[in-house]
Amino acid sequence: MRIGIIGSGQIGGTLTRRLQELGHDVTVANSRGPDSLRDLAAETGATPGTVEQAARSADLVVVAVPLKAVPQLPAAAFEGRVVVDANNYYPQRDGDVPEIADLSLTSSRWTADRLTGARVVKAFNNIQARHLLEKGRPAGTPDRIALPVAGDDPEAKRIVMEVVDALGFDPVDAGTLDESWRQQPDTPVYGTDRDAEGVRQGLAEVRP
Ligand SMILES: NC(=O)c1ccc[n+]([C@@H]2O[C@H](COP(=O)([O-])OP(=O)(O)OC[C@H]3O[C@@H](n4cnc5c(N)ncnc54)[C@H](OP(=O)(O)O)[C@@H]3O)[C@@H](O)[C@H]2O)c1
Repeated sequence: MRIGIIGSGQIGGTLTRRLQELGHDVTVANSRGPDSLRDLAAETGATPGTVEQAARSADLVVVAVPLKAVPQLPAAAFEGRVVVDANNYYPQRDGDVPEIADLSLTSSRWTADRLTGARVVKAFNNIQARHLLEKGRPAGTPDRIALPVAGDDPEAKRIVMEVVDALGFDPVDAGTLDESWRQQPDTPVYGTDRDAEGVRQGLAEVRP
């Protein structure tokens, strides 16, 4: 697939490395522009680009930026794309967003409202970047780490679940974007590296 990655930090950099390694054609972008991505490009073989370039030409786009940066993204470039939202809301970093803080909206719904027309799927938000880099295992490995995947578009969710599996993690269907609060920070599945059964249990038992 042609994959665009927005954000070249801990999560974006990790997914650039891992997805390029799997043979995908990755274009990576950040806030400082393509020149700042030369080292990552040389290391991984990924193409450095602008946000516009990374999003517009991709079959799948990963957004891995501080949530507060989402309104600055060029929404038109994401229209119709499968967009993986790996972000979390941290008030100390992202400022006060009352509708996310009081759980009226999931952070992914808030993001989807700003990237109108994108087929947003929430994934990778609940695993530490280092574990995403190092802890992928072949399907069938006992205690393989599972990752919840939530979204409204079944086809988009299927594509993302396949990517999760290819990266070495068990994908678990976590419902719709409005249900994705179940995998946000401070939930049982957040940063706990559970297996598929554990993730299903965590999603089922969590209370707002
Ligand atoms: N770190 C983790 O283990 C982890 C795990 C799961 C989820 N997350 C979530 O994933 C997101 C990214 O986290 P991170 O730890 O990878 O952050 P990070 O290391 O600080 O990297 C953030 C990246 O976003 C880029 N960025 C910021 N504003 C941008 C804009 N307007 N346009 C394009 N790119 C922009 C930055 O560009 P520059 O490089 O040019 O500054 C940087 O490459 C956050 O929402 C975080 O909560 C993090």
